[in-house]
Amino acid sequence: MALSLHNSTSISRVGFASQFLGSKSASNASLSVSFPPSLAHLSFKSVEPSRIIAMSKAESSSSDQVKVDITLSPRVNSVKPSKTVAITDHATALAQAGVPVIRLAAGEPDFDTPTIIAEAGINAIREGYTRYTPNAGTMELRTAICHKLKEENGISYTPDQIVVSNGAKQSILQAVLAVCSPGDEVIIPAPYWVSYPEMARLADATPVILPTLISDNFLLDPELLESKITEKSRLLILCSPSNPTGSVYPKKLLEKIAEIVAKHPRLLVLSDEIYEHIIYTPATHTSFASLPGMWDRTLTVNGFSKAFAMTGWRLGYIAGPKHFIAACNKIQSQSTSGSSSIAQKAGVAALGLGYAGGEAISTMVKAFRERRDFLVKSFGELEGVKISEPQGAFYLFIDFSSYYGVEAEGFGKIENSESLCRYFLDNAQVALVPGDAFGDDSCIRISYAASLTTLQAAFERIKKALISLRPAVTV
Ligand SMILES: Cc1ncc(COP(=O)(O)O)c(C=O)c1O
Repeated sequence: MALSLHNSTSISRVGFASQFLGSKSASNASLSVSFPPSLAHLSFKSVEPSRIIAMSKAESSSSDQVKVDITLSPRVNSVKPSKTVAITDHATALAQAGVPVIRLAAGEPDFDTPTIIAEAGINAIREGYTRYTPNAGTMELRTAICHKLKEENGISYTPDQIVVSNGAKQSILQAVLAVCSPGDEVIIPAPYWVSYPEMARLADATPVILPTLISDNFLLDPELLESKITEKSRLLILCSPSNPTGSVYPKKLLEKIAEIVAKHPRLLVLSDEIYEHIIYTPATHTSFASLPGMWDRTLTVNGFSKAFAMTGWRLGYIAGPKHFIAACNKIQSQSTSGSSSIAQKAGVAALGLGYAGGEAISTMVKAFRERRDFLVKSFGELEGVKISEPQGAFYLFIDFSSYYGVEAEGFGKIENSESLCRYFLDNAQVALVPGDAFGDDSCIRISYAASLTTLQAAFERIKKALISLRPAVTV
């Protein structure tokens, strides 16, 4: 099918939102693609449906045409792009175009990295600590991580059982690549962090999604888990506190899950504990590897992005039995090598802040809690909305499905989480993430990594936008 190219210098607000969220109008736009001016030098020529040849205008006008086959690998074609990144970028573009968008889509704290940590990074540069580090991370940082895991999580590791990476995301991907064979199954409770299923696909494994219920606080039902384990099951991914629900797995439930896991020698557990410090009492965090019999089969992932407000430093790590960790290290050695020497110095300073990050972190957690309380109370009073109070992280995963099926004036039918998000972006100028990205289309994720004043304004806008819709079904 031929593609015609428009050099679009101005993109309307609605058009922008539609393109980004993959709305009906965008998905119907197969004959017409708008490109920002920076890409206007590219022209597209029709060939066959699966293969498009791109040429620069300069090249196409010369007699010696250079054609480039831009076919992508089946592996990358099987992976969906991250909707959280997509909507964040799009909301940013809208804001830059002058639309007063309130962005509650991003998964990063709105706080600055605590000064003491930032200073450690600055000093690392000043002192010339700017060379390659060992692939697995500096001995100084890995020793500090071992100390942290022992003191805070009750799990013992030696530095050769730790690999430091460019963020926990890399740690998780490497672990999935290291342990999964083609055709293996990766069990993922939904709602899930967007990257887990895609990482399984990158490893040629099959994601097996286990739904959970809002009435169960989005926690995995052990019986459902047991019924879904097969000989192909290789990895169970647990995330507590959870992105996107904020649910925290109680120790008793983890123990039940551990009993089931213990019956299946092939099954490993990847425990993503990156939000461990952002937790609201009385909830407490339990590391899966600390449960009886689970150390041998658990890969514990953690990082600095969330608790220490260090998203841009790119620092995370994995801990586990040496055999698996050496495999992760091998992958890293042939891809990115060790993470930044500067970030690692900052990481040492972060772990030096004391138990659970000390006061610097507890101040942030206090602010998150205040915001959570405000949002839970406010949304809880709205008609047709279901909420499970999050016990950790900084997200609220709200069930708005009673609004699906409603015809919104001047907008059209609200069909699902994606169109409701588009409605909020167009009518309330609030950017949120459709639950469908996290494997639960009935909900929408709100990130409360924003000031209370911003959240109050966002809530008022959403409320106003909802008032013009009547819930189709009473909940
Ligand atoms: C559940 C979860 N795990 C892992 C990550 C990756 O964090 P990073 O790569 O910044 O350390 C994120 C980031 O959003 C997350 O939400």
